Amino acid sequence: MSDKVKLALVGAGGMANSVHYPSLAVFDDVEIVGLCDLVPDKLQATAEKFKIEKTYSDYKTMIEETAPDGVYVLMPPHHLFDIAHHVLSNGINLFLEKPPGVTADQTRHLAHTAETNGCVSLVGFNRRYIPLMQQCKNMVLDHGGPVIQAMSSFYKWHAAGPYYNGAIDILSCDAVHAVDTLRYIGGDVAKVVGDVSNQGLHFGTRFNALVEFEGGGSGILMTNWRVGGRIHQFEMHGEGISAYVNPNTRAEVYVDGADKPKRITAQKAAGGSDENRVYYGFEGENRAFVDAIKTGQQPETCLPDAVKTMELVDRIYHNTL
Ligand SMILES: NC(=O)c1ccc[n+]([C@@H]2O[C@H](COP(=O)([O-])OP(=O)(O)OC[C@H]3O[C@@H](n4cnc5c(N)ncnc54)[C@H](O)[C@@H]3O)[C@@H](O)[C@H]2O)c1
Repeated sequence: MSDKVKLALVGAGGMANSVHYPSLAVFDDVEIVGLCDLVPDKLQATAEKFKIEKTYSDYKTMIEETAPDGVYVLMPPHHLFDIAHHVLSNGINLFLEKPPGVTADQTRHLAHTAETNGCVSLVGFNRRYIPLMQQCKNMVLDHGGPVIQAMSSFYKWHAAGPYYNGAIDILSCDAVHAVDTLRYIGGDVAKVVGDVSNQGLHFGTRFNALVEFEGGGSGILMTNWRVGGRIHQFEMHGEGISAYVNPNTRAEVYVDGADKPKRITAQKAAGGSDENRVYYGFEGENRAFVDAIKTGQQPETCLPDAVKTMELVDRIYHNTL
């Protein structure tokens, strides 16, 4: 590998332009060798914005001509499998947005292909890279670990149906962030009982669960896509310590019965940055992918780990009250 990590990018859409490519643009150890999209206007506009010389409409041609160390595949879950599989089959490292496919089966097969071909992979479960989440989890573990109780909630008002005209259900596509973060806080899950409801509609809108972590702690998932608005909050409890975290704004941490909590803002935890792509974990996950390519070590949210999150989604559906 040359001094710089060579990255080729598939997708010139919303997430690519708003958080991922702006993050790559600030890394001086990265060279973007090509960009691919099917829509010419988006391709050109994104290439100009990030000063990418080589543009393509066919990802196979781009990969062959640019010989990248890693490929980004940033598109809706029902369009990514063929591209991701091609990248991994050619022994190239892969960054995927979440969810990593439409089903746990697809994710398992991608993880298997990555392992067979010796690739590192990163799935964009960005909540794990939010500096405020990391700081609070470390405080809980340092003071009173292991985590003995956890709560992960995600609420939205979602007037539309399941995502992408019904290509994927709400829990697998978006509420999966809360499922993955519950695992991040409490660890792998030994037992689960789910509560799933469609609230009178033709698709699932409410997904709750009670879990027992392998370490013995207890966790609660609370999500609903037909309520007042977007609220995404977490609780992390250890012996003598409790962190209540809203990663968009701030956390309050109570220690040993003290009346007043320690308050930490999301921006302060991110070194004072008020850029969403920094304090909301996007820069961190991109940094983790580039570092993983350089070291050959799998990052925390690699495909094999993402399989466990997608399998927990299945278990929530299958082990209902
Ligand atoms: N982590 C988060 O908080 C978060 C937030 C929003 C979305 N997402 C995820 O990000 C993913 C991407 O969402 P988005 O809103 O950026 O998508 P988008 O639709 O804006 O962009 C996808 C792009 O891929 C291109 N494309 C599709 N098929 C292609 C192909 N075969 N070859 C080349 N280009 C192709 C499209 O033309 C489009 O420009 C989704 O899976 C979504 O779940 C994550």
